[in-house]
Amino acid sequence: MKKPEATYLKDYVPPSHSIEWCELEFDIFDEKTIVKNTMEITASDKVDATLFLNGEDLELLSLKCNGVEMDTRNYVKNDRGLKIFSLPAKCTVHIATVIYPKQNTRLEGLYLSGGIYCTQNEPEGFRRITYFLDRPDNMTVFTTTVIADRKRFPILLSNGNMIEKGCVSDTRHFVRWHDPFVKPSYLFALVAGDLDVFSDSFVTSSGRSVELNIYVDKGNGHRCSYAMRSLKAAMAWDEKEYGREYDLDVYNIVAVDSFNMGAMENKGLNIFNSHYVLADEEHATDQDFMGIESVIAHEYFHNWTGNRITCRDWFQLTLKEGLTVFRDQCFSADMNSPVVQRIKDVKMLQQRQFAEDAGPTAHPIKPDHYIEINNFYTATVYEKGAEVIRMLHAFLGPEKFREGMDRYFILFDGQAVRTEDFISALTQDCSIDIEQFKLWYTQERTPILSVDGSYDAKNREYTLRLTQIIPKSVEGKEQKPYLYPLRFALLDEGGKELDFLLDDNSQTKHKEGVLIVSKEQENILFKNVAVCPKLSINRGFSAPVKVIFKKADYGFLMSHDSDGFNRYEAAQMLALQNMIGMAEGKEEDGRFIEAFGKALSDKRIDLMSKALILELPGVDMLMQEQKPAEIESLVSVYEKLLKTVAVTYKDVMSEMYEQLNGMDSSSIDAEDMAYRAMKNRLLGYLAELEDDYAKELCLNQYYNATTMTERLFALKMLEDHYADAAQKALNDFYDKYSSYTLVMNKYLSIIASSKRDGVLERV
Ligand code: BES
Ligand code: ZN
Repeated sequence: MKKPEATYLKDYVPPSHSIEWCELEFDIFDEKTIVKNTMEITASDKVDATLFLNGEDLELLSLKCNGVEMDTRNYVKNDRGLKIFSLPAKCTVHIATVIYPKQNTRLEGLYLSGGIYCTQNEPEGFRRITYFLDRPDNMTVFTTTVIADRKRFPILLSNGNMIEKGCVSDTRHFVRWHDPFVKPSYLFALVAGDLDVFSDSFVTSSGRSVELNIYVDKGNGHRCSYAMRSLKAAMAWDEKEYGREYDLDVYNIVAVDSFNMGAMENKGLNIFNSHYVLADEEHATDQDFMGIESVIAHEYFHNWTGNRITCRDWFQLTLKEGLTVFRDQCFSADMNSPVVQRIKDVKMLQQRQFAEDAGPTAHPIKPDHYIEINNFYTATVYEKGAEVIRMLHAFLGPEKFREGMDRYFILFDGQAVRTEDFISALTQDCSIDIEQFKLWYTQERTPILSVDGSYDAKNREYTLRLTQIIPKSVEGKEQKPYLYPLRFALLDEGGKELDFLLDDNSQTKHKEGVLIVSKEQENILFKNVAVCPKLSINRGFSAPVKVIFKKADYGFLMSHDSDGFNRYEAAQMLALQNMIGMAEGKEEDGRFIEAFGKALSDKRIDLMSKALILELPGVDMLMQEQKPAEIESLVSVYEKLLKTVAVTYKDVMSEMYEQLNGMDSSSIDAEDMAYRAMKNRLLGYLAELEDDYAKELCLNQYYNATTMTERLFALKMLEDHYADAAQKALNDFYDKYSSYTLVMNKYLSIIASSKRDGVLERV
C-alpha cells in the first residue's frame, strides 16, 4: 500500500520538460497489449537534465534515446514511474511497454469490458498505458496506430481524424488516427471492438461537414436517434450562444455498459455509459431522455471548455467542470423550460451539495490540497462551481458575459490555465470587487443570509436588513463575507411587483431587482413603496446561499410569487417548516395544507412546475434542518404529511388524475412529459391511501401504460403499497423486459428501494 500523501496547490511547479508530439502504437493481443511510444521531449530549462515520467503497472521492454538503447545506469524505475538522467535538451525517446487490459479491474487506463477495449484516463489513468508526463499542463499532439484482429475488432478508434488504415497480416488490421490539436494525456482515448454504428452529419456555421458516429453494442444501433438529435442540438447551440464551432472532421461517441463514470469528453472520441446514450420510446423514461440530452451536451461542450482550454493542474478542476455544467444547464433550459430546469438544478444542489457542505468533507470549489484527486469530482466542484459561474453571468449580464467568454477563448486557446485566468478574462470590464468575489473559490460551507424587513406606512418606506452569517471552515477557521447578486422583488397583495426608489448610491447603480450583497450587515432603504410589501428574495436562486427569513409569507409566495422558482422554493420551505415542527411535537400546520390545495388547483401554474411544487421535500432535506437528525421520526413525519395531503385532497386529485389519464399523451415532447409528471405525482399521493380505489388506479396505469415513465412509476407504487398485487406485476415486468439491461436496472432499483418490510430478503 502506498502511504497517503497530500498534494498541495501551493507546491505547484511547472513541468521540467514538455512533450511536443507523441506517436503511439497499440498492438492488441488476447492476453496483453504492446504499447510503443515515440515522443519528442524538450527540456524547459537547460539546468536539470533529469526527467521523471509517470508510469504505473507497466512492464518496460525497451527505452531508447535518439534511437540508441539507454544504459540501465541512466534510468531508475519505481512503482510510480521512471527517472531518466542526463537527457539531451531536445531528444526523441522511444519506450516500449506491455500492459494487461484483461486483468485491469481498476477501469483506469486501457481495459477490456464486455469484449470491447476502451480507455479512461482522467485524471491520472494514462500513466497505466505508457510512461509519460501525465499532467494536464503538458499538452501534446498525438498520432495513434491501433492494431488488432480484424474479425473480432473491426472498429478501431482513437482521437482526431482517421488518416490511414490497412492490413498487417491475414488476420490483423490497423487504423491510424491523428489529432492535430494539442491536448493533455487525460483526453487520450482508444476503443477497439465489434460495434454497431449510427451515423449522421452536421454542417457547421462556416460550412464544414462533420461526420457524427455513435458506436454501440451490436443490436442497439436503432436506440441512438435521441442521443444523435441531442448532439446536433448541442452543436448548433454552442455556435449560436458562444460562437464555438466543432473543430475536427469527425465526432465519435462510444457507449459501453461497464463505463465507470457517466461519460468522458476525450477529444473527438467521447466514451459514455450506455445509460446516457441508448433510449427508445418503449424502454426509456422521461428522466432518461432528459439525462441523455444533458450529458451528451455536457461532454460536447467540453470540447471548448476543457479540451481546447484545459486545467493547469487538478486543483483547477472547477475551471472546466463548473463552467461546463453551467453551459449544459443553460442548454437544457433553452431546450426545455427555463423555470423547470432551474428548479431541478437547484433541487439537486440543495440535496447533494448543501449536504456535502454541511458535512465533514466540505471543501471549496477549488481545494488547496488533496490526497486522492479522484475523490474531488464532487457536487461542490461541479454544481456549486456552476453556481459561481452563474453569479458572474448575473453580474455581467448576457452581453458582457459573452464578450468575456470570447476573450477567454482568444487569450487561452491551446493552453492549460487556472481559474484566476478565467476570471480575469471574464471580468475585464466589470465593476464588482473581484477579490471578494474570489472567496467563492477558496472558502467552504454554505453561507446563510438572514433577512428581516419592516414597513413604515407613514413615510411609505421599507427597510430591508441583510446579515451574512458565515460558517467557519471544517477546521474551525473564520471565513469572510461573500459578494453575490441577490434578485428580489417587493410584491403587493396580488403578487404584482411594486415600484420603489432606492436611495443607496452603491445599489442604484445596478440593475433593478438585483441587490449586491457584500457586507456582513447592511440595511437597505426603499422609498415610495405604496403598500406594505411581501418580499420575494433570492429569486431564481441567484446565489447559492441559505436564506433565513422568519417573516416570510411562504403560503402567499407559493401561490402569488411571479418568480416561478420562488413559488417552488416557498412550497418547499413551508413543507419543511411544517415537518420539522411536527418532528418537534407540534401540530400539523394548516397553512401548508391550505397552500397545497391552492397550488393544486391553480390553473396558472404550468403542469411540470406544479408537479415539482407539489413534491414534498424528502427526508434528506429534513435531515439538513435537524441536528442531530432523528431519522426515524423524520421518516414518520414525512409519511404522515404525505397521507394527510392525500386524504385532504383525494377528490380533487382523483378528478385531476382521471382527466389526465383520459388524454392521449405518449410522445416525448415537453407537454406530454408534463402530463406524465403530474399524473405520477397525483398517483403517488393517491397510492398513499392504500385503498381499493387507488390500487385499481395503479394496476390500471401499470397494465395500460403507453410509456415507460408511467409503467415504471405504477410498478413502484404497487411495490411500495400493495403487497398482494406487486409480485404479479413485477413478474409481468420481468417477463417483458428481462433482455434489456437498462430496464432491468430500474426493476432492481424498485425492489431495492421498496418501502415495504423485508426489502433485504427480497433483494
Ligand atoms: N470529465 C468528466 C468525467 C470524469 C468524471 C472523469 C470523474 C474522471 C472522474 C465528465 O465530463 C463528467 O463530468 N461526467 C459526468 C456527467 C456530467 C454530465 C456531469 C459523470 O460522468 O458523472
Ligand atoms: Zn464534465
